[in-house]
Amino acid sequence: MKNEVYTASANANIAFVKYWGKKSDNIPFNSSVSMTLGNNVSTITSVVFSDKLQHDQLFINGVPVDASKGGEKAGLLFDVLSQMRKLAGVKEHALIVSKNSFPASTGLASSASGAAAFAYAVNSALGLGLSSRSLSIIARKISGSGCRSVFGGFVLWHAGNRSEESYAEQIKNENHWPQLIDAIAIVTEAKKKVSSSEGHIQTIKTSKLYKHRIPFAEENASRAVELIHNKDLHNLSELIMRDSNNMHATMLDSWPPIHYITDSSWRIIDTIHEINDAEGKNIAAYTLDAGPNVHIITEKRYSKKVLNEVGNAVGDIKFIISRAGGSPRLLPDNMALIDEKLNIIK
Ligand code: PMV
Repeated sequence: MKNEVYTASANANIAFVKYWGKKSDNIPFNSSVSMTLGNNVSTITSVVFSDKLQHDQLFINGVPVDASKGGEKAGLLFDVLSQMRKLAGVKEHALIVSKNSFPASTGLASSASGAAAFAYAVNSALGLGLSSRSLSIIARKISGSGCRSVFGGFVLWHAGNRSEESYAEQIKNENHWPQLIDAIAIVTEAKKKVSSSEGHIQTIKTSKLYKHRIPFAEENASRAVELIHNKDLHNLSELIMRDSNNMHATMLDSWPPIHYITDSSWRIIDTIHEINDAEGKNIAAYTLDAGPNVHIITEKRYSKKVLNEVGNAVGDIKFIISRAGGSPRLLPDNMALIDEKLNIIK
């Protein structure tokens, strides 16, 4: 374990039923449901514990992260690292290097894959052997939506009332619905103005609509599980679109209002409605996280038509296309990210 580099990769996820609004320790007000995406939308994290290190060091996308100045998420990462090290009875400090395969802070839930890769890699490096459920609780503490990225395929996050009850579990694995894809329309790669951490709190404190969202989203989560089981694209699409709209309505109802949807996002949303109306059934859904990029959920057999029409409506637009992907995994030594920083421990 000591001086050995462990590298893990975890994939982002897209929520079909959203998590928005949280209590302490990132315990949500409602359960949520997501699809874990493929390896093309992932975070790779390398970890080494060594007695040659004087303190913990963390680099995210090449930038050193300072526990005291790096903001709330950075503080949480260092706290979780200390808790896991204590659990393992290890004294050595850690060098951790993490890299995303996609732009961060654009509502692509980069923090989710980051949190899951972090929990998985540290668990391996410390030889803790924690269960996936325990890792989902640990990832949740770093970034709520991260608990869902600890599993592949289709995932339900039970809201729970206490920390031990708020964990994710797999509903169906990544081979259940191979036709289903997420085409992410990259409207912008710019950093979002209001981070999700701030947004969760601002909405529960100030939105008058929020209390109505909780039972609606809870019901959506149970229904989404059923619709995923049945691979019911028509009804699941309506549920996904309504849930996304409902979450963004509570954001807009916050004070001051939080808004992530841009004119280009709206053009895509309207186009999806036009396509579904013309078909006489829902063949595609849109859903947006805390950012303007639009996730288009559809089946492969419809994707050419849907993406062509969206492209025609908004002009030159880039899509990242992904299907359901697997759970976090360890990568071979030659994929370690830490190499360039290894001289610190040599
Ligand atoms: O995990 P956070 O704190 O980044 O929150 C993400 C919340 C949404 O992406 C907007 C919705 C979700 O369930 O992923």
